[in-house]
Amino acid sequence: MAAFREFAVVDKVIESEIITSFYLAPRDGQALWEFQPGQYLTLRVPGPDGPVLKTYSLSNAPSETRHYRITVKREAGINGAPEGLGSCWLHDRVAPGDSIEVAAPRGSFVLDETSPRPVLLLSGGVGLTPMVAMLQRLAETEREVYFLHACENGRVHALRDEVLALVSDRIHARFIYRSPSDADRSAALFDAEGVIDKTFLRQHLPIGDYEAYICGPTPFMAAMYQLLQELGVAEDRIAYEFFGKATSLKTRNVATAPQTAASAATAAIRSLTHITNPDAWASEEGEPAESGTVAAGQSLSTAQVEFRASGATVAWDAAQGSLLQLAENAGLEPAFTCRAGICNACKCRLITGEVDYFEEPLEMPQPGEVLICCSRPKGTVVLDL
Ligand SMILES: Cc1cc2nc3c(=O)[nH]c(=O)nc-3n(C[C@H](O)[C@H](O)[C@H](O)COP(=O)(O)OP(=O)(O)OC[C@H]3O[C@@H](n4cnc5c(N)ncnc54)[C@H](O)[C@@H]3O)c2cc1C
Ligand code: FES
Repeated sequence: MAAFREFAVVDKVIESEIITSFYLAPRDGQALWEFQPGQYLTLRVPGPDGPVLKTYSLSNAPSETRHYRITVKREAGINGAPEGLGSCWLHDRVAPGDSIEVAAPRGSFVLDETSPRPVLLLSGGVGLTPMVAMLQRLAETEREVYFLHACENGRVHALRDEVLALVSDRIHARFIYRSPSDADRSAALFDAEGVIDKTFLRQHLPIGDYEAYICGPTPFMAAMYQLLQELGVAEDRIAYEFFGKATSLKTRNVATAPQTAASAATAAIRSLTHITNPDAWASEEGEPAESGTVAAGQSLSTAQVEFRASGATVAWDAAQGSLLQLAENAGLEPAFTCRAGICNACKCRLITGEVDYFEEPLEMPQPGEVLICCSRPKGTVVLDL
């Protein structure tokens, strides 16, 4: 099966001053690929030196069979920086009737649909896109949902009406505007002003056994991650997605250094097994969640990995995750961007040994090359890193 299919833009809908949705239907008349709420599409967009790949979360209901929808913020270059290549091409050049090459939905930031627990969807800015797909799916279930969305004001707030249309006895939505306009105030478009803090969460969330999903700008996510941990939500109950360069919100001390993570683990936050601590939730400061444990059932089989160019040899085990994480844990700083097998930024030469891909690369590297962000060693491995 070809990695990319041609899709027609069947509609283009302005959602806010800076955010526009694109509805995409396959030109081949075949069914859409199925997707899990939270996953994203990869688009081939024209760049100055040939096509480049850009990823956009699916914002439509997973039950939709006619088209996909992506909802894109126009990245205007600020302070003289160049305008965003993909987002400005979509906003300024793409019109209904145009074609776009699209690869199948991917990503491990997905709603755990096996769980009956209440769900907390926390988004900032255009980070609401995967949350809306999750919300659409959750609307078909019996689960309790809290959808909290923070943005600047009503001028940039996308998909507001769609979210409100899903509100019910068990689906609650709260909008937090950082600097609302007079028009926002008189139309009562928002529930709170400022930023989400612990008091706000306590006021708006009953004590619960939540699974939390976070998406938004990195400082927003770091703050939400820390707040949730302070409120007793265990770290493996918190899943998150970066729209920029992927890193990790897990740190040894999130309170003091939320943005100085040493390693990434978006794909690792999939085992939602811990219980929220109601005592911590109720107490003034809460207890920090336990960390550093290996999830139940994880294999501890080991292998030796030599990073030859760096002169380091380290033991790998399942708790280390990918070869990229292993290198980072060893103090190396390999290049990466997506951490999901899409961009090839982490490609390096495999001198000896074999690897397993736990996430299939969008385009398989040549023999003798390896994408270290989505692979693990199969026995002893030597990398030119
Ligand atoms: C999993 C995932 C899901 C995503 N989902 C969405 C989504 O649903 N909606 C959405 O809008 N985005 C989403 N994104 C982000 C999206 O993929 C793009 O990163 C985003 O659109 C910016 O890409 P761009 O090509 O427009 O900008 P780029 O060309 O990549 O530029 C990025 C930023 O850097 C600035 N810049 C460019 N060149 C320079 C320079 N030389 N110096 C200084 N600054 C510079 C640009 O002005 C811009 O602000 C997602 C990302 C990921 C990883
Ligand atoms: S970091 Fe993008 S493919 Fe590995």
